Amino acid sequence: MQLFRALLLARCFFSAAALHIDKRTPQPFTDFTDNIFFYPASDAVQWRTLYARSLQLPDNSLLMTWENYPKEPPLVNHPIYKSIDGGATWSNFSQVKDQTNGWGMRFQPFLYTLPRDFGGFAAGTILAAGVSTPFSLEGGVYIDLYASKDQAKTWNFVSHIAYGAGPETIKNGNDALWEPFLLIHDNSLICFYSDQTDPNHGQKLVHVTTSNLLTWSAPVSDVTFPAYGDRPGMTTVAHIESSNQFIMTFEYCGKGGCRVHYKVASSPLNFDSAQAIQLTSNDTSKTTPVGSPYVVWTPHPNRSDGSGLIIVSGGNQEPVFINEDAANPAGWKKVDVGMWSAYSRSMRIITVNGKKKLFFGNGGNMGDPKYNSVACGVVPIPT
Ligand SMILES: *[C@@H]1O[C@H](CO)[C@@H](O)[C@H](O)[C@H]1NC(C)=O
Ligand SMILES: *[C@@H]1O[C@H](CO)[C@@H](O)[C@H](O)[C@H]1NC(C)=O
Ligand SMILES: *[C@@H]1O[C@H](CO)[C@@H](O)[C@H](O)[C@H]1NC(C)=O
Repeated sequence: MQLFRALLLARCFFSAAALHIDKRTPQPFTDFTDNIFFYPASDAVQWRTLYARSLQLPDNSLLMTWENYPKEPPLVNHPIYKSIDGGATWSNFSQVKDQTNGWGMRFQPFLYTLPRDFGGFAAGTILAAGVSTPFSLEGGVYIDLYASKDQAKTWNFVSHIAYGAGPETIKNGNDALWEPFLLIHDNSLICFYSDQTDPNHGQKLVHVTTSNLLTWSAPVSDVTFPAYGDRPGMTTVAHIESSNQFIMTFEYCGKGGCRVHYKVASSPLNFDSAQAIQLTSNDTSKTTPVGSPYVVWTPHPNRSDGSGLIIVSGGNQEPVFINEDAANPAGWKKVDVGMWSAYSRSMRIITVNGKKKLFFGNGGNMGDPKYNSVACGVVPIPT
């Protein structure tokens, strides 16, 4: 949970789009945007829903999870909803429940499929990482790892990825942890996250690694800024396959607000030494997205030479920002694909009827939580 949340709340910002709720259900396996499929209960608390994350299974069905805040007890969990019609309709499928802390799975879920056998787990095992901490936000925080060997039906606790003493708040000096993001690379599974436990930095971005999913390395910095109160946050990473480079996006909460920045490195383990660059669109609006970015890479839909596109989403913008593989700072093209913005709107390249599409997962915006609900969108890969 980043400073951005508090700032947005203070400004009473909310998505104007969320006011125009469209209840039509899309046709199966078509393109659509702003498809709300989960409304929280009216007595839900905090943000009601936030921070949606998706996954596509080998049979092309889709999964979605999000921060969910029904009234407690029972303890909160990370719901798993499933769609078998390309995201048009969804049903309640399973939940990732806290099996070890007695605190609930509260913040920032993330889903990942093991692309190959790893650490005794078979290729295709689904991993779920998330933040577990008590309702009071006092008493400790874990980033925990769960695994499913049956396509997300059932889940088992695997390991604690990282621990902080809490309280789990965005106040500098509190030992909080946020926003896990998983990526396999060579012989390691990497978990990137936001870390408030270093006394020299209000918050910094780090990663830890494992070779067996059970034991994790000490944290290694990916982004730090010299000023104690600066708070880089919310890592996501994409592999630029054509150049074998890696791009990470993050929000840099400092004097300039929470502007989206990125780094490019030849290894996802070496972002620390790469230069942080502010993302600014190359049209006359010179737009810099603010807050909660997400990055994906895809082969270019109109080329067959292996080159691709980098696509970045930012929290306060409906358009996405696309760039060629070189990630030239002057190459960010702003493209409106008609999908609502959201706090940490996620993206994934999915396959629908044999065609690659860009899929969005929205858990709502900040501001008036009354308007938070879970929505998805499927659009052609923007060029
Ligand atoms: C999903 O179904 C389970 C029962 O299988 C229930 O406990 C849970 O509350 C449901 N989740 C949501 C988000 O409705
Ligand atoms: C890519 O192809 C799509 C149709 O498949 C077309 O709409 C789009 O304009 C093309 N983009 C470029 C940059 O050629
Ligand atoms: C913006 O960058 C794209 C590459 O992503 C390029 O095709 C386009 O010409 C650039 N636009 C301007 C105005 O420089």
